[in-house]
This record gives sequence, structure tokens and C-alpha cells, in this order.
Amino acid sequence: MNLAGNKVRIRNITRADIPLLVKWKNDPEIADLVRGAPINTTFEIESRRYEKGLGEYDTLRLIIESLTGSSIGFISLGSIDKENRKAELGMLIGEKRMWNQGFGTDALVTLLRHLFLELDFHRVGLEVFEYNVRAKKVYEKTGFTIEGLERQGLYRNGRYYDIILMGILRDEFLGKYRIFA
Ligand SMILES: CC(C)(COP(=O)(O)OP(=O)(O)OC[C@H]1O[C@@H](n2cnc3c(N)ncnc32)[C@H](O)[C@@H]1OP(=O)(O)O)[C@@H](O)C(=O)NCCC(=O)NCCS
Repeated sequence: MNLAGNKVRIRNITRADIPLLVKWKNDPEIADLVRGAPINTTFEIESRRYEKGLGEYDTLRLIIESLTGSSIGFISLGSIDKENRKAELGMLIGEKRMWNQGFGTDALVTLLRHLFLELDFHRVGLEVFEYNVRAKKVYEKTGFTIEGLERQGLYRNGRYYDIILMGILRDEFLGKYRIFA
């Protein structure tokens, strides 16, 4: 896959990206906002995940690049369900100096456009921790709706937090971005 947005490009992950992925996922500030912590990931774990991903039909693992060609983040689709034309999304901008400059939003819109317009997906869902206000903002402004709450589904730093379930439908996305398909 090779997608071009206004601020980013999105491409398939390669073996060469694994060290960067390890660095990003082990950053404590990022780890606190995504699934997986507190277990530190390793090159071996990410290599296994990479190899496994190559053979999986229901997973898509992608790298977000700036337009100058540096790798800045990761975006993935899991539980791809062809019958119901839906999937679950996860993302991170691993280079923190790039936060709050629109890269995450552009990556998300670029991928959704491809999924809904080219691949005929019907819905995309995701989960976000209740305290992740930046991610929540990005998802809301992209058109995701809160669909539910997994009450106290997350245990972090000695207490429980809710996990917010969000989703977007094809028609909602096309309507928001005034795409007439
Ligand atoms: C979440 C993430 C992918 C967003 O990418 P990004 O490039 O930083 O996001 P953008 O710059 O496109 O948008 C950020 C928005 O959040 C807003 N924002 C930032 N901090 C905020 C805060 N504390 N409260 C409310 N809004 C906030 C920004 O103002 C901006 O909105 P605006 O464009 O309307 O001004 C990125 O920050 C990241 O990787 N975070 C760590 C990992 C993570 O949380 N992943 C998501 C897991 S569900």
C-alpha cells in the first residue's frame, strides 16, 4: 500500500522499521496511551509480530512518513472482517516533536479515504483511553462518534479507567468530507 495525504505518506511496514517501532512503543509517554504497557516490547517481539503480520489476512500494519520521507509513526488495522466490511484501527505518531501539527489527523483521513473509497469498507472502529484527550480530539474531528464505554476496562498506575469505543461509518466520512462517491 502506498497512500499520499496532504502532510504524510502511508506505506507498508518493512523489516527495517522494527527498531523504530520498538523505540516508539517503549517511550513511557506513548506506552501510557496505547495498549500493551507496562510490558516493554523488544526487537524480538516486534520481529515476531512483523513475521506473523505478513501471513495474516486480517491485519494491515503501516508506517506514516512525513513528506520529506522520515518515518514518524505507525497505523494499523486489525480484525479486518471482509464479510462485514469493517476493521479496528490503532495509531501513533512516534516522533513526539511532531505531535500537534496535524500529522496524525492527516494520516487518519488519508487511510480512511482509501478504506471507504477504494476498498469499500463500511465501518472502522477504535478504542481510546478516557484520559487520552489528544487522540479523542483527533478522532472526533475526523468524524468518529462515541459508541460505547468499556467501564474500567483499563488498569494503569494503580487505578481503573474507562475505555471509550468509537466508530465511523462510510456515509458519515463521505458526508463530512463532502465526497460524492
Ligand atoms: C494521538 C496522535 C496519533 C495524534 O496525532 P497528532 O499528529 O499529534 O494530532 P493532530 O496534530 O493531527 O491533532 C491533535 C489535536 O488535538 C488537540 N490537542 C492536543 N492536546 C490537547 C489537549 N490536551 N486537550 C484537547 N485537545 C488537545 C490539538 O489542538 C489538535 O486539534 P486541532 O487541530 O483542532 O487544534 C498522537 O498525538 C500520538 O501518537 N499520541 C500518542 C499515542 C496515542 O495516543 N495513540 C492513539 C491511541 S488511541
